[in-house]
Amino acid sequence: MPEFDRHSDRYLETLQQAIAFSGDEASYFADYKAVKLTEIMDKNVFNKVLDFGCGIGSVSVAIQTTAPTWQINGFDISRDSLARVPSSLTEKGIFTSNIEDLGSDHDAVLLTGVMHHINPEERRSALDLALDRLKPGGLLVVFEHNPWNPVTSWVVDRCPFDENAILLPPPEIVSIFQTIGLVNIKRQFIIFFPNITKFLRPLERWLTWCPLGAQYVIVGEKA
Ligand SMILES: C[S@@+](CC[C@H](N)C(=O)[O-])C[C@H]1O[C@@H](n2cnc3c(N)ncnc32)[C@H](O)[C@@H]1O
Repeated sequence: MPEFDRHSDRYLETLQQAIAFSGDEASYFADYKAVKLTEIMDKNVFNKVLDFGCGIGSVSVAIQTTAPTWQINGFDISRDSLARVPSSLTEKGIFTSNIEDLGSDHDAVLLTGVMHHINPEERRSALDLALDRLKPGGLLVVFEHNPWNPVTSWVVDRCPFDENAILLPPPEIVSIFQTIGLVNIKRQFIIFFPNITKFLRPLERWLTWCPLGAQYVIVGEKA
């Protein structure tokens, strides 16, 4: 049974409890990624996006709100999670546990918080599978927890659905991206300030070089 079938019914509550100390709702982190994606892609141009490891669709919902004209599809190995994806998404896109249901013409394939749930020896093949769903020139976009941030590691150690998680330092993703032939690889660190210091958040756009962000995003282009 896929691990997240066990967590799908309480996914949001569990996540909310794990991050409660930060003072932010889980939606803050989903919205952050959606906005970042629309900065990486052109928000005003139609884009077809695959949310790979979409879970219950939290990030897809945020993308739909941020870029309403985009086509959003989702893939996950957890059918129980997919069953909880809102109808606002499933009525317009394909949300499936069968990768063959999805075309190979996506402008972006996005993985948010997925890689640390995949065994290290299976990570390259998972990203290869994601790459197959991209059109040439499309972007593979991976958001991950940053193990170089001690607070992130502390949260992951206490989150019930992260009990088997193995965090990846950014060079591991960059190395896989290079191995599978992606070009123009870029890295940014994100999410620096908890809610209590949110007045400092406008500074984050100048801190993307600093390896202390709670999370990071790596982008590579399919040649
Ligand atoms: C922490 S959840 C993140 C869900 C969603 N991306 C989000 O940010 O809310 C991790 C998800 O990755 C999925 N997953 C784990 N291994 C996978 C794989 N090999 N292929 C696709 N999805 C996978 C799990 O089933 C789970 O839904």
